Amino acid sequence: MSDRDQATNQMLEMRYREIAELAGGLAHEIRNPLSTISLNLGVLREELSDSDNPRDRRMQQRLTTIQGECDRLQTFLNTFLQFANSAMEIHREPHDLSDYVRELIDFLKPDFAASQIEISPHLATDLPQTLLDPAQFRRALLNLTRNAQQAMPEGGTLEFQTYRSEEGVVLEIIDTGNGIPQHVQEKMFDVFYSTRPGGSGLGLPTVRKIIEAHGGSIQCASEVGKGTRFRITLPACDPQT
Ligand SMILES: Nc1ncnc2c1ncn2[C@@H]1O[C@H](COP(=O)(O)OP(=O)(O)O)[C@@H](O)[C@H]1O
Ligand SMILES: [Mg+2]
Repeated sequence: MSDRDQATNQMLEMRYREIAELAGGLAHEIRNPLSTISLNLGVLREELSDSDNPRDRRMQQRLTTIQGECDRLQTFLNTFLQFANSAMEIHREPHDLSDYVRELIDFLKPDFAASQIEISPHLATDLPQTLLDPAQFRRALLNLTRNAQQAMPEGGTLEFQTYRSEEGVVLEIIDTGNGIPQHVQEKMFDVFYSTRPGGSGLGLPTVRKIIEAHGGSIQCASEVGKGTRFRITLPACDPQT
């Protein structure tokens, strides 16, 4: 890379950081007054709850609508801040990927069983260790498993595979959901791209940011009507260190 390219890259990176900080700050500034508004709405609704007066009842209905919109904004801001903050600070420590995934499966099982989704683990027992930030990596996996759950509204199977590869260690998450058409696959890692009503479109961008901060990569293969496979590759710890 020439000196000029390097200088341009540095400038772009600075601009990007500035915009990211600005957006994060803005989200924070909105979040605090919003939570005050939401709390006060709750109090007002509570005060009107015993009244049989038709005017009070109409007012209560309106307050419920406003509260719903507040909740929607709060959820959006939280997801947005999660995206903005993900991978900003990463603290990695050696983990056995299979053990890590097994713990996550224990956590997911009851919720998935309630959605008629069977979890099928195929976890290698001889993996080299890999460096993970447990909280951030969990956030990435929860985004992927939530998407899989939403893609299987009638139930199905969610498979977890771990194995070694030349590049390091691999985790595959495979669902039997409705699959992803090619035109969606091309855009699904773009921020704010979503095909779901009310979807934030920040799930997969957050996932990718976290995986890349771990020095890894993520690929997808999907067939409409059959299901989807996400493959995460992470570097293995150097056995010398
Ligand atoms: N496992 C999956 N099966 C089917 N579609 C998926 C799956 N994962 C992601 N998608 C598609 O990718 C889009 C973007 O996902 P995401 O970034 O998590 O945003 P959101 O979940 O808010 O829509 C989804 O709207 C959906 O169309
Ligand atoms: Mg999602």
